[in-house]
Formats: sequence, structure tokens, C-alpha cells
Amino acid sequence: MAATGERIFVQAIRRYCASHGIALDVRSGGWLLAMSGHGERHFAFGYDIGLNSAIAHRLANDKSAAAEVLTLEGVPCIPHRLFLNPSMGAHVAGPDWQQAMLMLLAQNPQGVVVKPNEGTSGRAVFKVTNRNELDRAVTEVFSSSLGLVIAPYVEIEDEVRVILLDDKPMTVYRKERPQVVGDGLRTLRELASEAGHDRQLRELTAQEVNAVVPNGEHRILNWRHNLDAGARPVLMEDGEVRAICAQLAVEAAAAIGITFASIDVVRVDDAWRVLEVNSGVMMEALAKLHPELVQATYDAALDRVFGGS
Ligand SMILES: Nc1ncnc2c1ncn2[C@@H]1O[C@H](COP(=O)(O)OP(=O)(O)OP(=O)(O)O)[C@@H](O)[C@H]1O
Ligand SMILES: [Mg+2]
Repeated sequence: MAATGERIFVQAIRRYCASHGIALDVRSGGWLLAMSGHGERHFAFGYDIGLNSAIAHRLANDKSAAAEVLTLEGVPCIPHRLFLNPSMGAHVAGPDWQQAMLMLLAQNPQGVVVKPNEGTSGRAVFKVTNRNELDRAVTEVFSSSLGLVIAPYVEIEDEVRVILLDDKPMTVYRKERPQVVGDGLRTLRELASEAGHDRQLRELTAQEVNAVVPNGEHRILNWRHNLDAGARPVLMEDGEVRAICAQLAVEAAAAIGITFASIDVVRVDDAWRVLEVNSGVMMEALAKLHPELVQATYDAALDRVFGGS
């Protein structure tokens, strides 16, 4: 967000409209954008620019539905099993949901990840390895979400976001988690503090933060790759890895039938798989480092909205 508090998404649309003779009406505290020009009327809502069909949008926003569709279409992905909130009624959740969750935990000794079925930029995303942690995570997620998903925990070596318009990768970046390198003298707390990563320390144990980090050793401070949680976007240069990620994203988009999307792919055991597909394209954090690229991406999408190529 800018100093005015206005989202980058809104600012980018403002700029496009101003330079293309399109009138813009910003409503609902900036969430609803009404554009009119060239005899056309279009809306943007939230982070949705209006290019995706209703069904593609719904599939993408639902982590379990997206994973099911990708599996059906043979696109490698991280499986996400859906559990509906029992507060909606016993018939909705089914009688065996607790046993089914425990079974998933038993089948995945490395742990499972519990998170809201509709993403929330990394909030309420928990890694759990035992029954107590599972209970706590499930209670927390169900306190604010109607659906919860459980995925096997995987050791992510790299997470890459591909922003795709039709078959074209518009923006491709790696997400670099906050990390420090030890010097054999300072504790993890001191290293993290000096690097401006204080808030990452909250989720670590006292023992972890007070230990001296051996010289040259890398310590990742947060297992999640969300930019909102402190990860840094690093643009990928043309090359083999970028091409593999872009190709996988194109396959995922084709499976879901989505036109404009941001698709997260992860490298696990040296193989790339889809983690999630987002129908809303949010580039707030990226815009701080690469404002022109963000504007160019939204410009291309808006050209498509207004009937351009
Ligand atoms: N199964 C998993 N194994 C390991 N790490 C995971 C797994 N699922 C999620 N993560 C980590 O947690 C982060 C957040 O998860 P995810 O992207 O699924 O949810 P979200 O960011 O809250 O959703 P959205 O992006 O739709 O808001 C990922 O970037 C990844 O680093
Ligand atoms: Mg995410």
C-alpha cells in the first residue's frame, strides 16, 4: 500500500485508466472498481481484474478443489484434503472427520500442514506433527474458516510464483525466506535482530533463539514462503528453471481453465509441483521492488479486459 493507504492494485488500475481515457469509480473502500470507456463497462473486485470465468475463479480459490482438478488432469501438485467446519452441521462435516484427520497424521510422520481452504496470505497456516498440535491448529482454523485443508508437509527447496496471462509468464520470481548466517559468536536472536527480522523470532523456541549459530551455517527463520510473512521476491532470469516453472504453471492454468492467475510451484526432492493457484493477482510486496513490472503486468491484463490483444 502507498502512503495514501491505497492498494497497488488500485493505483495500477488508476494509472491505466488515466492513460487510456477510461473513467474510474472507486467504491466500497477501494475494493470495488468500476471502469467505463470505449463504450464498455468493466469491474474489478478485490484482486480480481475480471478475466477469469466464475468456475475458474472458484476452483482456484479453493485449495482442495484446485488440487483435485490438477490431479484429474495429470498435473503434479501437492494434495490438499478438504474438511468442512462441523459448526455448519453434523451432516456437512460427516461423522468421521476427526478419525480421518488422525489417519492423515499417522500416514505422514514428517508432519502435515493445516490451513484455511481459501488462502489468507499465510495466516493460520500450521505445521503439525502430533495430536495436540493438530487439535490446536484445527480449532484455530475452524474459528474463522468454513473449510480447512490438510496437506502432507513437504520439504520445499524452492518456491516460485508465476503470474500468467493466457500462456504468457508475465512475472516469475523466487520467494526467498528470511534467513541469517552464523558467525560462531552471536545468537540467533542477535543475528535476526541485526538483520531486521525480529518479528520472525516469535514462532521460535527460547532455546532456538538463544543458541549461538555456528560459523557459516544458514538458518531459515520462517518455514513459510509468504511475502507478507517476510519472504523476499527475487526475479528469475531466463533459463532452464524459469522455463520449467512457467511450463508447469501453463499446464496448471489450462487444467483449471484460468486466464489471469498467480501460480505457486515448489521444488521438492528435485521435482517441481504446483502448490496453489490464485485467481486474484496480488503484487503489493513485489511493487516495492519492481513497480514497472507490476504496472506492465496489470496493463497487459487490462488491455485484454478492454478487448485488446
Ligand atoms: N504442504 C506443505 N508443505 C510445506 N510447506 C507448505 C505446505 N503448504 C504450505 N506451505 C508453506 O506455507 C506457505 C503458505 O501456504 P499456502 O500458500 O498454501 O497458503 P496461503 O499463502 O495462506 O494462501 P494464499 O496464497 O492463497 O493466500 C507456502 O508458501 C509454503 O511455504
Ligand atoms: Mg500462498
